[in-house]
Amino acid sequence: MEQELLNLQNEARGNLNQLTEAGQLEEFRIRYLGRKGLFSTIMRELSAASPEERPRLGQLANSVRAEIEQLFDEKKTTLDNSSSRAQGANAIDLSLPGRYPERGRLHPVTQIMTEVCSIFEALGFSVAEGPDVEHDHYNFEALNIPAHHPARDMHDTFYVSESILLRTHTSPMQARIMESKQPPLRVIAPGKVYRCDSDITHTPMFHQVEGFLVDTKVSFADLKGILTVFTQKMFGEELALRFRPSFFPFTEPSAEVDIACVICGGKGCRVCKQTGWLEILGAGMIDPEVFKMVGYDPEIYSGFAFGLGIERIAMLKYGINDIRLYYENDLRFLSQF
Ligand code: FA5
Repeated sequence: MEQELLNLQNEARGNLNQLTEAGQLEEFRIRYLGRKGLFSTIMRELSAASPEERPRLGQLANSVRAEIEQLFDEKKTTLDNSSSRAQGANAIDLSLPGRYPERGRLHPVTQIMTEVCSIFEALGFSVAEGPDVEHDHYNFEALNIPAHHPARDMHDTFYVSESILLRTHTSPMQARIMESKQPPLRVIAPGKVYRCDSDITHTPMFHQVEGFLVDTKVSFADLKGILTVFTQKMFGEELALRFRPSFFPFTEPSAEVDIACVICGGKGCRVCKQTGWLEILGAGMIDPEVFKMVGYDPEIYSGFAFGLGIERIAMLKYGINDIRLYYENDLRFLSQF
């Protein structure tokens, strides 16, 4: 048995020396140190030794096992260290190019909205915001559109309840501001509006910027002047602009303003419905009835108002021929702006 122990010691030392990978360690442990391993098999023979021999052989067996265990632990530490160094080297390859984080950007409609607002701010207008979910009163009644007025049909309203709705335009902000403030006023009110409407120039949710100015002796010439300066700053001085007579119950006289269609250069196309023009806003002189409802004296005060369609301006600015592209969330489209 003594010789068997010494042979086992030599064999185990030699095998340990030859191990080169951490994965081989477990196989070694089972073969030599496991419960059914070679060392345990020899130990079982100890009971067959004579009582005089047993203490010496027991001591020898313990020291052989202790040595193999110690050598095993040392080898394990060495191999574990070198394999984690190798993994570390794989994990960080300093020669690879860096990874750039994806950068977000503002939606093109938000970019245009910001540009429009800053042009009016530079012209002395202050910014006010109001609710998307609005009372029928502000959306219609206070703007001289009583129940059953045919103008309500033009709006394709989404109703929340009988008297609450999603605002169909930003004009309710005229009434909200005027009933709480006294002239002179020079305000823009940007925001989302909603209509049950969808085709290449209409979306069910879109953005408007309302603008209004109230003071004494305000004339249509002032309205024309402000809107002309705005379109020149937005599109350059060459782009043709036209004022077309129109009707809004809350302005008198009223106009719609068109810009030469940038898609076809004014020749006529699908986007401008073959007219060569694209409507970007409605406007007019604030109706005396609206002034009376907010408690202003129409004999003293006059003013103008306008409501711009932001998506339409974005279409013209970027030459986009279908407004719905803005809301399809296709990054190939959106990342161009
Ligand atoms: C109005 O909404 C009036 N409140 C504008 C106004 C304000 C007139 C102040 C007088 C005084 P209109 O329905 O025409 O008007 O809409 C104004 C602009 O919003 C249009 O010129 C157009 O550019 C845009 N627009 C209208 N409907 C849609 C739609 N469904 N999708 C995208 N843009 C639209």
